[in-house]
Amino acid sequence: MPNKANHIAIIMDGNGRWAQNRGRQRIAGHERGAEVVRDITTFCSDHKEVKQLTLYAFSTENSKRPALEVDFLMKLLGKYLKRELPFYLNNNVKFKAIGDISKFSKKLQKIIVTTEQETKSCTGLTQSLALNYGSRNELMRAVNRIDKPCSEVKEADIAAALDCKKDVDLLIRTGGDHRLSNYLLWQAAYAELFFTDTLWPDFTSGELESIISDFKTIERRFGGVK
Ligand code: FPP
Repeated sequence: MPNKANHIAIIMDGNGRWAQNRGRQRIAGHERGAEVVRDITTFCSDHKEVKQLTLYAFSTENSKRPALEVDFLMKLLGKYLKRELPFYLNNNVKFKAIGDISKFSKKLQKIIVTTEQETKSCTGLTQSLALNYGSRNELMRAVNRIDKPCSEVKEADIAAALDCKKDVDLLIRTGGDHRLSNYLLWQAAYAELFFTDTLWPDFTSGELESIISDFKTIERRFGGVK
């Protein structure tokens, strides 16, 4: 049976370089990147097999960037979510944030929570945005959230306490680097990893389709033998 790409996770890298290659400011790359988020979400929402798309939009480390860029990204995110609400509802897409959003402004937190609430009954694709997300931070918060820290903690207890509860099938990184950057380390334990040199603003649904086709031909053994 060919593999099913139920859960696709993407590290969207290369916005800054895309803009700089065009003699523009890095923020122009983020703006274009947000449009690609919409294109790829549309593709996944129309795809019969993809149930969850988890996108790395802002890492716990990204707050070290120049304040102007961080501020721009926060505003872009707020604008994006407000603008996308009709898209989510019309396409039956459930929106979910993962990560520690308590560090965001109250205004942005409200937009995020409202978007989650407004789309909670949608039954199609789940689009998760990783916001102020880091896998180690997620694990730490999960362990602290578990009810009975004195009894033996099982693998299932940790999995259930994570922000992102579904294992990743296919993890893609754009932008040419070959690393995971603290992204979904638990959930990607058996994920197939794909790296492309394409910068995120140039990434297309056609390239995603071809990655999914390659993914289908791989023999996944989950540590066993066939
Ligand atoms: C990495 O590119 C990208 C980010 C840190 C942010 C990702 C944000 C977006 C795709 C746009 C906003 C998203 C939404 C949902 C509104 P980089 O800046 O590290 O690029 P570089 O490696 O070329 O410098």
